[in-house]
Amino acid sequence: MSLLDQLKEPWFFMRLSLSHVPATVQALVAAKDYGTLFSPSGFREALFGTLWATIGPNIKAMNEERVIALLEGRIKNGCVQDKVVSTPIHGTVLEVGAGSGMWVDVLARFTNNVHTDGGLHNRNNAGRGITKIYGVEPNPISAKALQKRVNEVGVQDIYHVVPVGIESVNDPSAWDSKIEPGSIDCIFGVLCLCSIPDPEKNIQLLYKLLKPGGHWFVNEHVKVSRGGPLLAFYQWFCNIGWSFFMGSCRLCRDTEKSLRAAGVWQEIDLAQPPDHTGYEVIPHIIGTLKK
Ligand SMILES: C[S@@+](CC[C@H](N)C(=O)[O-])C[C@H]1O[C@@H](n2cnc3c(N)ncnc32)[C@H](O)[C@@H]1O
Repeated sequence: MSLLDQLKEPWFFMRLSLSHVPATVQALVAAKDYGTLFSPSGFREALFGTLWATIGPNIKAMNEERVIALLEGRIKNGCVQDKVVSTPIHGTVLEVGAGSGMWVDVLARFTNNVHTDGGLHNRNNAGRGITKIYGVEPNPISAKALQKRVNEVGVQDIYHVVPVGIESVNDPSAWDSKIEPGSIDCIFGVLCLCSIPDPEKNIQLLYKLLKPGGHWFVNEHVKVSRGGPLLAFYQWFCNIGWSFFMGSCRLCRDTEKSLRAAGVWQEIDLAQPPDHTGYEVIPHIIGTLKK
């Protein structure tokens, strides 16, 4: 992508979001959901949900090869490797900000079950496949779509939708169960730590849910760290409009710093992908942390 295209990228998404305002209003009126329609924060979330239904599949397609490699343990220093170089996803998994279930079919490939959806099959040859998944998603519309996707893929025996924010996963009064500290083998999330409230506190909470030796699989967009102060200022400027049009997502989060500071890690491998030039207004990091 040229530098000009990088600079235009946030505005492309904001303009696309603006074009989804009529459909969002129409859907809320049809549902007689006037509370959300007239609530600025509720409408912002509903608008983002409508937008994500359009752009989510494309964003998944753009990230899929890399994310599958990440879950297979084939990412090192941001680059896809031919061979497995780290522990693949396994055991009890917590998917943060699971949205409408864009990654359910991919996670299903790592279970020990054989699925017929799109020819999916267990890719985890080590036999340490995923045994249980908690899909944490607070947006009620997305949580409903997530449950539908779980049923379609046929993993309802393994995948449990948790319809609250991650700040409430250990609060049994918020939903009908509780995730105990130190009970999770792997945390996984795609483009979600940009959207959670109070990131430092909630990333620490997630850290506590991981077992010692547990792995966190990260694929996030983050604050500008290369490209100089002008680019950082431009990202900050774009974030003003972004916060109106892109739900709770924020452009300038230093997610890598929050992850590193969450607690003691045995290993950290987080980097920008090799196709990044350093001039991205929406730069990404990918990799894993081992508790
Ligand atoms: C950009 S979307 C990504 C969705 C999904 N990971 C995907 O790739 O399609 C960010 C998601 O984070 C969710 N989210 C927002 N606040 C959250 C919270 N407190 N806890 C967990 N997820 C949250 C949003 O509802 C949304 O579904």
